[in-house]
Amino acid sequence: MNSGQQSYKSLTIIDLITLKQQGEKISCLTAYDASFSALIDKVGIEVILIGDSLGMVIQGQSSTVPVTIEEIIYHSCCVIRGKKQAFIIADLPFASYYSKMVAIENAIKIMQQGGVQMVKLEGAQIDIIYFLVEQGIPVCGHLGLLPQSINQLGHYQVKGRLQSEADKIFSDAQKIEQAGAKLLILECVPAILAKKISASLKIPVIGIGAGVDCDGQILVLYDMLGLSDGKRPRFTQNFMQGAESIEIAIQRYRDAVKKSLFPTIEQSY
Ligand code: KIV
Repeated sequence: MNSGQQSYKSLTIIDLITLKQQGEKISCLTAYDASFSALIDKVGIEVILIGDSLGMVIQGQSSTVPVTIEEIIYHSCCVIRGKKQAFIIADLPFASYYSKMVAIENAIKIMQQGGVQMVKLEGAQIDIIYFLVEQGIPVCGHLGLLPQSINQLGHYQVKGRLQSEADKIFSDAQKIEQAGAKLLILECVPAILAKKISASLKIPVIGIGAGVDCDGQILVLYDMLGLSDGKRPRFTQNFMQGAESIEIAIQRYRDAVKKSLFPTIEQSY
């Protein structure tokens, strides 16, 4: 190392679990390139997700379904080059974890070639999660609205409004923790359900459209910068409004998450 060059210690999953234990909210954003990754990291956002949302916001696709492993790896490499301290998660994209062997091969590729610290997969894939964790792959679960299933769902909608659906999401969350996942994302579920799940799990629960009582919040970067086209979902907020720079907008998002000012009741279900 050259003199004058600083080395940075990356946050670990243990740091994130400690934040939950201390009652400090965890701020998370998606990113897909080195420049935004550097800015997000500089502001002190703890977690960056290379989400398959890149299919929609970067590639202009109508869903996340076309995103490939190679694309996730490419964008992970870009993000890793920009960041210093943030904890980095990448999505296992559509159809990349339909069996244990396929899941482990793809998770290894993403971790070794993309350099990320954890992989995320959608749904109550308990056996797959258990298998990946057994092989040493850190896993983040994802329940509620599952965007990779859009062609089965027909449209994006809140999940867990019916009691039977809420009970299933609650019990799946317990199983995902028991299978060894160390983080859980809840997308578009009633705030009351997300609160109950967050209180019942030891692992941090990160919400997107899941109310203020999760252990942390995540948004798609382009949504919080007001860049996304079309009708904005009610759980997003344009933090660029009134901000002098992108850095200030990200700082405002971080502050709002840390102080439990985002999301508001109106931004929740
Ligand atoms: O792909 C993505 O960006 C995500 C977040 C919406 C959680 O999965």
